[in-house]
Amino acid sequence: MSGVDLEPLVVLTGAGISAESGIPTFRGDGGIWEQYRATDLATPASFKRDPDLVWRFYNWRREMVFNCNPNQAHKTLATIENQLSNFMLITQNIDGLHQAAGSRHVLELHGSIWRLRCSACNERWEDRRVPIPEGIPLCSACGSMGRPDVVWFGEALETNVLQSAYQAAAQAKLMLVIGTSAVVHPAAELPLVARSAGARLVEFNVEDTPLTPFVDAVLQGPATQQLEQWWERVRPPA
Ligand code: OAD
Ligand code: ZN
Repeated sequence: MSGVDLEPLVVLTGAGISAESGIPTFRGDGGIWEQYRATDLATPASFKRDPDLVWRFYNWRREMVFNCNPNQAHKTLATIENQLSNFMLITQNIDGLHQAAGSRHVLELHGSIWRLRCSACNERWEDRRVPIPEGIPLCSACGSMGRPDVVWFGEALETNVLQSAYQAAAQAKLMLVIGTSAVVHPAAELPLVARSAGARLVEFNVEDTPLTPFVDAVLQGPATQQLEQWWERVRPPA
């Protein structure tokens, strides 16, 4: 693949890129949505019904992520960003591992587990405590319950983040799609937006996805290995 136009390079990642850090994915064997019912835990209605249960789920996930480190795939993306001038990383992950690996241009489509927001007013704040000692954190502005600043089922994505993602996708010459089942919308549309604007698509996954028939190349295998090897092949000479 050397000689390929690399920039603008846009990368879309999903839970599969963090799998080798020890964070379970959502779908498939051992996936989070196999063990837990999303409708009990990740919807506005479930938070209303039982905020304590929802917070126990998110505290569990915060603790799990807290004990994990970025892996070679996260690190390779940070290296790639350092060596290119036109790079954008779009992630569906809420774990913050891209930033921990050193990525700087990151659009978090589904929010961040490390940011909270008020369930009543517009207040947003960072909270990295693990666990959160008071159980359910309260908003310092109005005293209402805080919730994770993540996108739940039935909720819209943050408009400006989504717009920036569409814009980046439409300008991409090359898009890498890494570790996503490509079934959750609107994230799953971004590669198709890039493709119809003329970008080449390269998919990194351990299995085929609904996107596979539309990509220019499939690099099948663990993202840590595949991505590093791909970059060795295509990287511009120093
Ligand atoms: P999924 O759990 O749906 O898919 C994970 C993908 O990663 C699958 O296609 C796996 O084959 C692949 N995979 C697993 N291990 C891998 C590895 N080592 N290397 C490369 N690929 C690997 O996760 P997402 O596509 O991210 O949304 O799910 C999208 C959204 O659904 C999530 O952001 C979340 C969930 O509901 C919200 O919570 C809003
Ligand atoms: Zn508030």
